[in-house]
Amino acid sequence: MSSKTHSRKYWVGGNWKCNGSLSSIAALSEALNPSPFPFTKDDLDVVVFPTALHVHAAVEKLPGAYNVGCQDCCVAAKGAFTGDISADMIKDFGLNWLIVGHSECRAKRGDSDEKVAEKVKRAMEAGLNVTACIGETLEQQQAGKALEICYQQLKAIANSVTDWNRIVIAYEPVWAIGTGKVATPEYAQTKHMEIRTWISDNVTKEIADNLRIVYGGSVTPSNCETLMQQPDVDGFLVGGASLNAGFVDIIKSALVA
Ligand code: PGA
Repeated sequence: MSSKTHSRKYWVGGNWKCNGSLSSIAALSEALNPSPFPFTKDDLDVVVFPTALHVHAAVEKLPGAYNVGCQDCCVAAKGAFTGDISADMIKDFGLNWLIVGHSECRAKRGDSDEKVAEKVKRAMEAGLNVTACIGETLEQQQAGKALEICYQQLKAIANSVTDWNRIVIAYEPVWAIGTGKVATPEYAQTKHMEIRTWISDNVTKEIADNLRIVYGGSVTPSNCETLMQQPDVDGFLVGGASLNAGFVDIIKSALVA
């Protein structure tokens, strides 16, 4: 058991990325619905993020203790953006959660800090809850720039936030995403504490104390417990391990932390 003394509600997200089919999601939904069912919405926030095409199936098949969200949104409110979905559309569909700034969107879709800030702004205006991702690449870490990069990304996000109750910060070192090289609990704790300190210094201490900062990058059922016990780790954004029944074990680590 940890010595956590704060009252932040834990948050666990499952980022399904570009994975799944109607049949695999039906099977996964069964795996994510064990009996007895282990948690309620009062215990913690659990959000799964399927592809937009699979949102409907996930909403239909998962028990109500799960929230379903979208993986990204359009930088603009609407218009000539082929292939995009706007924050307003996500809200209109009845969803409440959105990921922005994921490192894959930053690296593969050209989401600059400015674009991420714009998306956070759209999501705030639409009334969505936002999981905003930050984190350094291996190169940046090796150059001793991890903190500088995180603060730069955080600043761009913070400038667009109008309601801090609707933000979760996901610290995801890029070198840990999908690599099996999870951050050590000490490294994650240090980074989370530094992020919280930045918020305290640049927003307010009260907001920093209440802000949920979750870790992402190769989280699995076997490494989640010690990570979750860190005082500034308030949950996880999980990729690969959210695609099977082990995701429930990761959720459970939040119930005992
Ligand atoms: P991973 O992905 O758990 O597969 O490393 C995490 C993420 O990209 O959010």
